[in-house]
Amino acid sequence: MKKHPSMLVPQFIREIDPYIPSRPDHYLMEAYDIPVLHRLNNNENPLGPPPAALEAIRTLKPGEMAIYPSGDAFDLRCHMAERLGISPDQILCGNGANEIIQFVISAYCETGDNIITADKTFAVYEWVAEFSGVEARLTPMKNHGFDPEAMLAFMDERTKIFFICNPNNPTGTFWDRETLKNFLEAVDGRAMVVVDEAYCEFVDNVDFPDTLALLSEHPNLLIFRTFSKMYGLAGLRIGYLIGQKDPVFDICRTRIVYSINSAAQQAAMAAFGDKEHIAKTRRMVWESKYWLKSRLTAMGLTVIAGEGNYIIARLPFNDQIAYRKLIRKGYMVRTMTGFRYPNHIRVTLREKSLMESFAAALEEVLEERGCL
Ligand SMILES: Cc1ncc(COP(=O)(O)O)c(C=O)c1O
Repeated sequence: MKKHPSMLVPQFIREIDPYIPSRPDHYLMEAYDIPVLHRLNNNENPLGPPPAALEAIRTLKPGEMAIYPSGDAFDLRCHMAERLGISPDQILCGNGANEIIQFVISAYCETGDNIITADKTFAVYEWVAEFSGVEARLTPMKNHGFDPEAMLAFMDERTKIFFICNPNNPTGTFWDRETLKNFLEAVDGRAMVVVDEAYCEFVDNVDFPDTLALLSEHPNLLIFRTFSKMYGLAGLRIGYLIGQKDPVFDICRTRIVYSINSAAQQAAMAAFGDKEHIAKTRRMVWESKYWLKSRLTAMGLTVIAGEGNYIIARLPFNDQIAYRKLIRKGYMVRTMTGFRYPNHIRVTLREKSLMESFAAALEEVLEERGCL
């Protein structure tokens, strides 16, 4: 008997609400009747990619587009490995760190297994686990940070992976060297420990752990990084994982080959470790962070600002209302209810002049709602 296609979808998948991405700028500008839209919602780098990466994209030869890219980003891995002082076999690249989350969950988890992360963090760990039929156990935060004791208390013999977002998106909190070391010792190789360092290049605090130095002692440690944030290559989709050779080999079993296009591989190679670009971006973020934090605090808002190129602020009303009011003024922020921070917005730290006009727009919204 014929079935409706939806009947072929497993029940647990049918229960998942698809993520709805925002519409393109031109669509939103027309819909909201605004001449310009400033995106402060995705923690991108407004300075874009380093000049060498732009040049790499510009000089991509037409012939290179007709052939498949390197299936395992061979040259890029060799280049990064040399600079990091590790073996290319310790690196696996993916179509953004998001894809790598999926590779890792597919490699280690089967039905009945679980992963553990926090309840107020980057949601993709939880989502990928769920649509992979794997339980996501979410521990409450402690002082807006991951709580190692709570995570260990949630562990059982079916726990395969811990996901720690360091620094955490959206709170900017981080585990220092000691906390991470103690956690790895307590886990004692019974599960994989993923430390997602998507924002590590923005970190100022000297206590931030050197995770590469912990790898030799902890074969269950996996480090995620991305070219989407500091390197301004979010549109090309490329991220990577670092670990010991054996786990990286195991994860290669579930990776999608050829998922990273040639432009992304070449741009990433040119961008990697560009000191000038990193210093310029960090200066911009640092200046905007301290300015915006004090401006929002002066408006009476509670602000959480740690490491990373974003801050979150608590509003005296619903974040969805704030989103709609702000987009009408040309600013797109990230609502935080989905991150389990109701009434909060997350704001990407961009050029100071833009932070100034954004703060003025937010002040108007607060005034319109009688909150000032
Ligand atoms: C903590 C964290 N990890 C991973 C990602 C995904 O990065 P990519 O663009 O490489 O998929 C993001 C993107 O926002 C992030 O915030």
